[in-house]
Amino acid sequence: MNTSALLASPLARGPGSLPRQRQLILRLKKAILAGQLPAGGKLPSSRALAEELDISRNTVLIAYEQLTAEGFVIADRQGTRVAPLSAAASGAMRAEPPPAKAPATARRLASIVSTRNANDASLPMTPGTPALTQFPINAWRRAQDRALQAAPAATLGYGNPVGEPALREAIAQYLRVSRGVRCDASRIVITEGAQGALALCVQLLTDPGDTAWLEEPGYRGAKSAFHGGDLDVLALRVDADGIAIPESAWRERPPRLIQTTPSHQYPTGAVLSLARRLNLIERARQAGAWIIEDDYDSEFRHQGEPIAAMQGLVADAPVLYVGTFSKTMFPALRLGFLVLPEAIAAQAMPSIVEMLRGGHRLEQLTMAAFIENGQFSRHLGRMRRLYRERQAALRDALASHLGIEHEVLGGHSGLHLTVRLPPQFPDQDIVRQARRMGMNPGALSAFAVSPLSEDNGLVIGYGNTAADRYPALLRRLKEAALECRKRR
Ligand SMILES: Cc1ncc(COP(=O)(O)O)c(C=O)c1O
Repeated sequence: MNTSALLASPLARGPGSLPRQRQLILRLKKAILAGQLPAGGKLPSSRALAEELDISRNTVLIAYEQLTAEGFVIADRQGTRVAPLSAAASGAMRAEPPPAKAPATARRLASIVSTRNANDASLPMTPGTPALTQFPINAWRRAQDRALQAAPAATLGYGNPVGEPALREAIAQYLRVSRGVRCDASRIVITEGAQGALALCVQLLTDPGDTAWLEEPGYRGAKSAFHGGDLDVLALRVDADGIAIPESAWRERPPRLIQTTPSHQYPTGAVLSLARRLNLIERARQAGAWIIEDDYDSEFRHQGEPIAAMQGLVADAPVLYVGTFSKTMFPALRLGFLVLPEAIAAQAMPSIVEMLRGGHRLEQLTMAAFIENGQFSRHLGRMRRLYRERQAALRDALASHLGIEHEVLGGHSGLHLTVRLPPQFPDQDIVRQARRMGMNPGALSAFAVSPLSEDNGLVIGYGNTAADRYPALLRRLKEAALECRKRR
């Protein structure tokens, strides 16, 4: 065997160098993986190699033993030979990733494209970010300490994969009272935010190629969850009454899943009308489809009575209710929840228990205590007042300082206003310019699969931006818009 790869240089000695036995092991592994010592080739005897490298024979023997244990070499009566390794072994040394050439994989990866920049989330006007500086962090820390003291060792284990019983119970109670959801704790699954719940719906209820309907413009997280499941995605326009489903869609591309944000359409802010809710439930039932009701920020209703969840409108509605603490508490908590319809809960729960691993137990127990002892509803009350004030300040500043013709959509609830702009002000250019100027609104057209001219506008978050900042910010936004204006 050509052992030049082994003997090319002496082993390093002296302070700072690895032990010689370790160096020899690494050198042999590298030569085997690179094919310099081919499969089946005999390694030098321990005595010969020890002499060549001027090290003790014992060092070589221990290195050979280690390589035998790891499967790199085989030792028998005839000596030590390089093991037959698969072609993948030499590939392991290469840096390139394997090609994603399966058509479904390539299609999936091409359709899930990110436009977000995590660094921008702390900038003013970021859509969907709550008032993090106003979060009662000390109360949360104390509650977390208490939860840990109450069950120090137990909280470190896996726990129930579908969530802490105390939190599921607290959520069930909260949803029944505040959102009109028909449920009990046994039908609730705690998920990694609303996103985890959406992914779970896809895993549980669809086969690749099934049709899934989305709102257009709509929530990108739902689109990526659907593409992740290789679903055939059909985006349906929303109007002032929420998602408007043409008769032809039921006939030609009947859905398996229908995603909707009925209480506060994201991003237009429309509320799905009662007539459409009832019709959707009935038609979904007839078509054997499931509705995903994403109730992401309905807690912050600023005008009129709270709008009850669609899930509770009629008994046994084919609705999977999705909620999250990302807006009511903070996004890093990564706690969301899914309420399974009664019709599938008993059958699906054992599979879900196998599919999930739970986790975030301390956070779950703390959240349960926060709800039970009233801190959650006090926090919601404070935030509702704060967001109402921030939205009013944003509306005033839009009217006084934007100086460009615009239409404000929605605003009955939530943490953002959507502002339609005339087509000569291209929203994606304005958003790029605004980021350079330290603001982070969203571009309305980026929420649409096939944007129309009416989808040109800005989605302005007011959750994370104090009321007194809007006049200056809107003047800057005007500057950004004027710089991007297209001359016709
Ligand atoms: C429509 C919609 N659903 C859900 C979420 C929250 O997702 P998560 O709970 O995964 O943070 C958001 C956040 O922006 C949203 O806009």
